[in-house]
Amino acid sequence: MTRTLGVALLGCGVVGSHVARLMVEQHVELGARVGVPLELRGIAVRRPGRARGVDVDAGLFTTDGEALVRRDDVDLVVEVIGGIEPARSLILAALEHGASVVTANKALLAVDGAALSEAAVKAARDLCYEASVAGAIPILRPLAESLAGDRITRVLGIVNGTTNFILDKMSTSGTGFAEALEQAQSLGYAEADPTADIEGFDAAAKAAILAGLSFHTRVTAADVYREGIADVSAGDVASAAQMGCVVKLLAICERHATPAGEAVSARVHPAMIPGDHPLASVREAYNAVFVESAAAGRLMFYGPGAGGPPTASAVLGDLVGAARNRLADVRGPAESVHAQHDVLPMGDTLTRYHIAVDVDDRAGVLAAVAQEFSRHGVSIQTVRQEGRGDDAQLVVVTHIARDADLAVTVGGLAAMDMVREVSSVMRVEAMPE
Ligand code: HSE
Repeated sequence: MTRTLGVALLGCGVVGSHVARLMVEQHVELGARVGVPLELRGIAVRRPGRARGVDVDAGLFTTDGEALVRRDDVDLVVEVIGGIEPARSLILAALEHGASVVTANKALLAVDGAALSEAAVKAARDLCYEASVAGAIPILRPLAESLAGDRITRVLGIVNGTTNFILDKMSTSGTGFAEALEQAQSLGYAEADPTADIEGFDAAAKAAILAGLSFHTRVTAADVYREGIADVSAGDVASAAQMGCVVKLLAICERHATPAGEAVSARVHPAMIPGDHPLASVREAYNAVFVESAAAGRLMFYGPGAGGPPTASAVLGDLVGAARNRLADVRGPAESVHAQHDVLPMGDTLTRYHIAVDVDDRAGVLAAVAQEFSRHGVSIQTVRQEGRGDDAQLVVVTHIARDADLAVTVGGLAAMDMVREVSSVMRVEAMPE
């Protein structure tokens, strides 16, 4: 009898339906690439009667995911349900029963990656998750394998398409955040409840995964400092443009030298970046990950970061890899967390700020404002002043400083009598010192 490998699909929504479709449409090619046919044994869904536009035998649908992953003829399990439960229990059950697992579940990996990884090692099976960060873009395997001999120093990612679309709209049309969000929703880029994207939770989960693989250290979502884009104003975007910059929501993972040794950090927040940085050209809902490493230098990975077919492409790539390993009776490389670096709190990371303050236009104000920066050990790189009648706007860009010192400087400025308003505060990244 010809050997086949059985696949169970958990979830048949935006991504799962395209995984199922492509498995059917590319059945022959996938089988040829693996070495034996991949057969879909079942699809676990919550509502089996729902139309999904997938041309598969209706008998494949089941509501019993637990039973499906424990079937003896299931060798590989694809989890595209998302969320913590039941995804976690089903993945653990699948591994325990000897199946290899492919998942796109960034939220679960960022919270409980260690437990899943340990279960995979114990079961001697693969746990693959290329699709969990930046959709179709091959980025996790390059970090974990292609760059395993290098020393990654920094990763800057635009890893959320919804927020990139909104910020891009704000930048090209001058609209405010609310209007750009409405446009994103009407064009289907933003969910009806866009909280996870807008508030940076989605990007923070991805930052945890990127930092972990880049620095060989366990990093969870709780270690990632997070700010979303809801407070980014048309004024911030205009101020960035005046400096030749654009505003992007960045996932930033860095390696730091500290007196106690090496440490790492992971953060997600809006930032101004120079218009000639490669990430500035990432428009609309596209994603990109910019990697800096000691030997390779600067690399950029670019492409569609969301959507059914692009994410299904990454899932199927993992599925073919895991299937090949099953056939060869091996597992892929184990997760590498040997470095175990400390993860720095946000206050200890090094960054720089763009600060716009509306001040009284009279003698001594500029000196007093400069004094406030100096009081907290923050060095100013540039100051621009615009007089506007009886008030003036001072726009200051600092040199690199501890984030805590920059934040306390902003607090000090806001408390000064001559400062009418701190009208814009945003971090600046990737700008030459
Ligand atoms: N909601 C995400 C985005 C896609 O807007 O990029 C899934 O990770």
